[in-house]
Amino acid sequence: MTHRLLAGIATGCFFVLGWLTAAHAVILEVKNGNSTCIKADISANFTITYPITNGTKTVVVPLPGSAVVGNGSSCEGDSPDLLATFGDGHSLGLVFSNDGHRYHVANLSLTYNLSDSATFPQSTSKDITVLTTNTSPISAQLNTTYRCLSPSSVNLGGPGVTITFFNLHMQAYMHSANLSTNETVCSADTPTTTAAPTTTPITTATPITPTKPERGNYSVENSTGTACLLARMGLQLNVTYFSKSQNKTIVVITNVQPNKTHISGSCESTSATLLLTGELANLSFAFTLNSTTNKYHLSTLNMSASWEDMSELFSVSNSSLQYMQGTLGRSYMCSVEEVLPVVSTFSLNTFDLQVQPFGVHNNEFGPADECRMQKDSMLVPIIVGASLAGLVLIVLIAYLVGRKRSHAGYQTI
Ligand SMILES: *[C@@H]1O[C@H](CO)[C@@H](O)[C@H](O)[C@H]1NC(C)=O
Ligand SMILES: *[C@@H]1O[C@H](CO)[C@@H](O)[C@H](O)[C@H]1NC(C)=O
Ligand SMILES: *[C@@H]1O[C@H](CO)[C@@H](O)[C@H](O)[C@H]1NC(C)=O
Ligand SMILES: *[C@@H]1O[C@H](CO)[C@@H](O)[C@H](O)[C@H]1NC(C)=O
Ligand SMILES: *[C@@H]1O[C@H](CO)[C@@H](O)[C@H](O)[C@H]1NC(C)=O
Ligand SMILES: *[C@@H]1O[C@H](CO)[C@@H](O)[C@H](O)[C@H]1NC(C)=O
Ligand SMILES: *[C@@H]1O[C@H](CO)[C@@H](O)[C@H](O)[C@H]1NC(C)=O
Ligand SMILES: *[C@@H]1O[C@H](CO)[C@@H](O)[C@H](O)[C@H]1NC(C)=O
Ligand SMILES: *[C@@H]1O[C@H](CO)[C@@H](O)[C@H](O)[C@H]1NC(C)=O
Ligand SMILES: *[C@@H]1O[C@H](CO)[C@@H](O)[C@H](O)[C@H]1NC(C)=O
Ligand SMILES: *[C@@H]1O[C@H](CO)[C@@H](O)[C@H](O)[C@H]1NC(C)=O
Ligand SMILES: *[C@@H]1O[C@H](CO)[C@@H](O)[C@H](O)[C@H]1NC(C)=O
Repeated sequence: MTHRLLAGIATGCFFVLGWLTAAHAVILEVKNGNSTCIKADISANFTITYPITNGTKTVVVPLPGSAVVGNGSSCEGDSPDLLATFGDGHSLGLVFSNDGHRYHVANLSLTYNLSDSATFPQSTSKDITVLTTNTSPISAQLNTTYRCLSPSSVNLGGPGVTITFFNLHMQAYMHSANLSTNETVCSADTPTTTAAPTTTPITTATPITPTKPERGNYSVENSTGTACLLARMGLQLNVTYFSKSQNKTIVVITNVQPNKTHISGSCESTSATLLLTGELANLSFAFTLNSTTNKYHLSTLNMSASWEDMSELFSVSNSSLQYMQGTLGRSYMCSVEEVLPVVSTFSLNTFDLQVQPFGVHNNEFGPADECRMQKDSMLVPIIVGASLAGLVLIVLIAYLVGRKRSHAGYQTI
């Protein structure tokens, strides 16, 4: 067995519909040497019914943030395998398979240890139960990321045992270490295409320009759990789309709410990705480091949204951007609003921004490279000040010269 399996774990916290109880998202990565074959950002709940003295009891066990890639995982052959182990002898297994066009989870299994009395109080059984099914909702086109934020449940046929997945981003048969930015979105996440009521037109409030967006703290951790990408910014979306309710193309300006945004991402030596999954839109920022010049910049920005008022999925991308240019080991900062045009129908407005996608130490920003607009905005008062000082000087000289001349004039008379 020459395979080296590396476990990549990052835990993120996100809020479900504003509840204060945070669920855990786990990022699991199966590698063969340096190449990743499966990467999964998973949140899941297991509903398990087990025997107690006078009947049965049902518990809901969340997949904990401490889950790791177990020894049963492999990148071998045509059916790579992800085994996430957690707690006292529990595991979740996904075996993939593909037909040349799509890949899917061919074998989904859950192993739970009923002798873990902390998880299964009063259990009368001490068994290790293994349940498997070959019907799973996870299926996507090859070379795309399967995305399903909505909960989807799979019954494991056992005595009342169900897995509920949510906030899922995963890919198998990967050709790079990063999740593809092309996604296969599950049907539960795509807007329902039920016929709009034809009787009364829906009256939507005219979009008002929102206030300055709240500043969010978006940081990404690498496999060792240390922050490797730091970002603090307020984000505002400027979306131009065809409104179903208004039967015309409209511009909507809307703010990203940090506390309703799920953060994920990855860090490599010369590329780093930040994924923000929100109620309104999903944003993906890809930063590139040029290792010869030690300069980085935001090179790709993807945005997708599927609002009820949109007739189709809004999905845009630009991979030749040159925004947020900074130097390795330093952060890029912009206190003024920056407008970042991405495509003709979408631009991103940033406020109070500070990012550092590479060379982060001790979870702190390095010294800041300021944006040009900010330098310009400081330059303006300097230029104005200098011009005023110059003007005063000229007036003074003119006055003195004039006075000298008039004195001379008086003397001749
Ligand atoms: C999220 O932020 C909004 C606006 O600041 C606030 O009204 C709301 O209470 C926050 N929700 C949570 C769960 O923190
Ligand atoms: C794996 O990465 C190491 C260090 O980054 C490199 O030296 C080695 O050649 C890589 N191996 C393969 C098979 O790519
Ligand atoms: C998962 O379980 C937690 C804790 O029991 C619960 O609050 C949450 O609603 C569940 N989420 C889903 C999607 O079932
Ligand atoms: C039997 O079940 C009931 C309710 O489910 C519970 O109140 C009671 O304590 C149980 N008895 C024993 C012996 O566990
Ligand atoms: C994998 O196996 C090795 C040795 O066989 C063991 O030390 C290690 O704890 C195992 N890891 C997991 C996550 O089970
Ligand atoms: C997936 O990508 C790889 C490498 O980029 C390519 O060789 C392969 O043909 C692609 N497969 C499909 C189904 O697009
Ligand atoms: C599915 O996986 C489980 C656990 O790895 C295994 O016991 C079972 O035989 C597999 N089932 C099929 C149909 O491959
Ligand atoms: C996304 O899909 C398009 C069209 O299928 C393809 O041209 C592009 O290369 C894909 N991008 C990635 C990152 O796989
Ligand atoms: C994680 O990031 C820290 C800080 O940037 C770095 O020192 C460490 O080598 C990284 N670990 C991995 C596995 O990339
Ligand atoms: C939004 O985008 C449109 C079209 O690019 C532009 O005319 C408008 O000024 C932008 N508004 C804001 C607030 O960014
Ligand atoms: C939408 O507008 C077009 C042209 O402006 C018009 O022909 C069409 O009837 C309108 N549709 C609805 C549902 O109002
Ligand atoms: C890095 O920058 C240099 C100088 O601008 C350029 O020639 C080179 O192509 C860049 N390298 C990459 C990988 O972009």
